Amino acid sequence: MRSVLATILLGTSILSLANQAQAQAQAQTWSGDSIVNPLTSSAGDPAKGRMIVASRQTGLCLLCHSGPFPEERFQGNLAPDIGVSVGHLSEAQLRARIVDPSRFNPGTIMPSYYRTVGLRRVAPKFEGQPMLSGQEIEDVVAFLLSLKIKTVQ
Ligand code: HEC
Repeated sequence: MRSVLATILLGTSILSLANQAQAQAQAQTWSGDSIVNPLTSSAGDPAKGRMIVASRQTGLCLLCHSGPFPEERFQGNLAPDIGVSVGHLSEAQLRARIVDPSRFNPGTIMPSYYRTVGLRRVAPKFEGQPMLSGQEIEDVVAFLLSLKIKTVQ
């Protein structure tokens, strides 16, 4: 059941890539369970990151996760609450979990947002393109970190 859902979700997300031009996968430097270096040279924008996380076209995070989004009526319950997860993950750990969650759980239903090799059922048009660009990943990480600050205070 879950794998069917994941396949459907992946298909939908990959189709939405039609609007995301030029995204090129870059080499990531893994260190243990983390990606310490940002994927881009310009800093992430938390406001854009929030839009990506809540978006039903790009991030799709709320199909599975819940989080601090009072305006979003339908949120997922297949994954941990994002607002809780940020409490125990560093910036580098968050980045790594969005880039390639299959490294942590090979059977995960969460898509690898920044991996382009070893994926199944990718339309030829989208081969070699990550689901989110490096800048979008950095925006999402910046947003998640902004939640962390609110949680800690
Ligand atoms: C298809 C469902 C699905 C989608 C879509 C999804 N996730 Fe996940 N995510 C999961 C599941 C399930 C887990 C729990 C670990 C596992 O099974 O891999 C997880 C784990 C995580 C974790 C680690 C949580 C922890 O406490 O260790 C983070 C951070 C995360 N997701 C962020 C995101 C973000 C940000 C997005 C959107 C860009 C997203 N996820 C989209 C299903 C999803």
